[in-house]
Amino acid sequence: MNPQPAPDTRTDYRLGRESRHLTRSVMRELLKKASAPGVISLAGGLPDTRLLPADQYRECLDAVLTRDGGAALQYRPMHEPLREWIASMMQARGVRCDAGQVFITNGNQQGLSILSRLFLDPDEAAVTEAITFTGIQQATAGRGARMLLAPTDLATGVDVDALETLFAEHQPRLAVLVPDFHNPLGVSISADKRQRIAAIAARYQVPVIEDDPYSALRFSGRPTPPIKAYDEAGWVFYLGSFSKMLAPGLRMGWMIVPDDLLPRVTALRESLDLETSTLTQRAVAEFVARGSLEPHLERLNASNRARCAAMLDALDKHFGGWATWTQPEGGLFVWVTLPAGIDTTAQLADVIDRLGVAYVPGGAFAVDGRSHRNTLRLNFSAVAPDDIRKGIARLASHFRPLAG
Ligand SMILES: Cc1ncc(COP(=O)(O)O)c(C=O)c1O
Repeated sequence: MNPQPAPDTRTDYRLGRESRHLTRSVMRELLKKASAPGVISLAGGLPDTRLLPADQYRECLDAVLTRDGGAALQYRPMHEPLREWIASMMQARGVRCDAGQVFITNGNQQGLSILSRLFLDPDEAAVTEAITFTGIQQATAGRGARMLLAPTDLATGVDVDALETLFAEHQPRLAVLVPDFHNPLGVSISADKRQRIAAIAARYQVPVIEDDPYSALRFSGRPTPPIKAYDEAGWVFYLGSFSKMLAPGLRMGWMIVPDDLLPRVTALRESLDLETSTLTQRAVAEFVARGSLEPHLERLNASNRARCAAMLDALDKHFGGWATWTQPEGGLFVWVTLPAGIDTTAQLADVIDRLGVAYVPGGAFAVDGRSHRNTLRLNFSAVAPDDIRKGIARLASHFRPLAG
């Protein structure tokens, strides 16, 4: 009797073009390993579960259901009070927009997916940073785009000269950048670079998608206006999310869309799903209207500040002199570069099994699929400071002898 072929090796399905590039989710597989009991996981990308405002959110849900009854459980147009709140928050950050241009999504990943379908065809050129969030890769390379990669300076963000050369030489269909507290690099794009990015987007007519789930997670330094704030000509598409500033499980975000594209974006989104949960929109509107977001962010960022400091201190102590790392002013991640020749992907299983510590190998974020093998992404938000210190000491004990 012939054995059954494994499901992923079947050849009798005729797969659509896009799914041929999307073979598996590397991140989900990694995170599964990292969540084994007893493992100190510096591999996550989440807030600490204990800091999520479950009680306050339950009160908001209760209030909405008591006030609106069945209407909160219906198909409905986007919730106006929420769009208005988002528009005024964006205006306060220097973006000229009104509530009518706020399009509610199920989070930034959906925004990436919609904008990718709006502008990009498979085989067309798309620009991303050479190291970037895997979901950005799924929405570009995953759709069969011809990838053009810009390097990133670990202190000031993406290399804008390189970006301009790519725009001028290839007329890409879109570019995707992460402005604040980059995932996985932890770096933010400096203000002067943001201004230049908005200018070259307009000059070369390249839609620049500003994927910004992290800006509210600032715990030090001064906020910088989004790239969208410098956009006079309408070539910057801003994506914001409640995932990191409130709770990932709400699955809610927004985009700022020019009026003339709104009907098309609405139709495109309907091909993915019909709308964002009416109940969630109303409950989040209630949460922000009660003034609960600011104190929540203060608690979250105070915790992240202390944990990031614990991680940077431990890195100084154990990795100082033979490795380098970024100095985030917010967000969730530190990016560590080890001496060339160390392959963090090859070491991961051993480090988890023998030392009980998990990280994400930096190579998982390399769009070319092969560079940056000597790097790692470390998360500080979800682990108590003592465990962070233990985890970093153990990582150093493993990697230091390999550094030669
Ligand atoms: C840079 C970046 N973009 C988008 C997302 C997805 O965000 P959301 O949960 O809003 O879909 C993430 C999540 O980690 C991210 O790091």
